[in-house]
Amino acid sequence: MSVAFSPNAWPAEAIWEVIAPLLPDFTVEVLPEIDSTNTELMRRAKSGLVAPTLLVAEKQTAGRGRLGREWHDLAERTEELPTIPALTFSLGLLLSPTDWSGLSLAVGVSIAQSLHASIGLKWPNDLWLQNRKLAGILIETCAVGQLRYVIIGVGINIIQPKIQQPSALPSLRTPPAFLQELTPKISSAEVLLRVSMPLVQSVLRFTELGFVPFQSSFNSLDVLRNRQVCVDNYLDENKNTMSTAGVALGVNTKGELMIQTAHGMQTINSSEVSVKPL
Ligand code: BTN
Repeated sequence: MSVAFSPNAWPAEAIWEVIAPLLPDFTVEVLPEIDSTNTELMRRAKSGLVAPTLLVAEKQTAGRGRLGREWHDLAERTEELPTIPALTFSLGLLLSPTDWSGLSLAVGVSIAQSLHASIGLKWPNDLWLQNRKLAGILIETCAVGQLRYVIIGVGINIIQPKIQQPSALPSLRTPPAFLQELTPKISSAEVLLRVSMPLVQSVLRFTELGFVPFQSSFNSLDVLRNRQVCVDNYLDENKNTMSTAGVALGVNTKGELMIQTAHGMQTINSSEVSVKPL
C-alpha cells in the first residue's frame, strides 16, 4: 500500500485491509492534487501499470465527466473550511466479464445503496437527490491483451458551498445536491470508507453474473420511471442521429433504457446520449 498524503485523515489502511483479500496486488493511493484520477489511471495503464488501484485525489484540476463535459468540485477550500468539498476517486482493475452491458448502472446502484435510501439514479448512472445531481460516474477502459483495464471514476458532492452565488459556480445542466444535506458533517474520508468495499464487491459480482442481479435494484431507484423524458443524440437502427420523447419505463436485463414513444417502444443503449426529464 502506498499513502502519499494525509495518511491519518484518509482510511487508506482500513480500506486496503478489507479489499486486498479480494483483489491481489491491490493498492490505495491518496494524492493532494492531480489533473484527473481517471486520466492518471489511464496513463498508468497505457504504460503497463495495471494493478488494481483505488486512486483518490483531494483536488482535481481537470476533472472529466460523461459526454466530454468537465467535472468540478463545487466548493473552494478556504481557511475557515479546509475540508475536502467533494470525494473524487477512481478504481482501476483488469476485468473480463462475458457481457459489459450495464456495468455503469451496476456501479451507480452500488454507490447509491451505500450512501442513503433517499438517493435515486438517473439513467445511466447519475445519482440524484430531489431532482438535483449528487454524484456522477465516468467509466473508461483500456485494452490489455485479452483483458480490459476498467477505470471507474466517481465524483460525489459532499459539502455545500457556504456562499452559493450562481455566477461563482460552473454552469451546470442540473442543480447540485450535497451529501451533507442528508448526513450532516459526513466527511469525504468517511464516504470513501463507506462506498469502496461494496463497490469492489459489486464489480466482482457483475463480472461473474452480469447486470441481471442489479436490474430490479436499478429500477426501484430509477428517478425517471414513469416520467416524460426527452432523449437527444441517440442513433437509430439506420445510424441516424435522432431525438425523441416518451415515457421512461425502466431498464431491461442489459441496462438499456426503455421508452414508450408515440412510435412504439424505443430502447436506448448508448451512454453517449443525454436523457432529461420534461
Ligand atoms: C459525470 O457526471 O458526467 C461523471 C463525473 C465523474 C467525475 C469523476 S471525479 C473522479 C474521476 N476523475 C474524473 O476526471 N472524473 C471522474
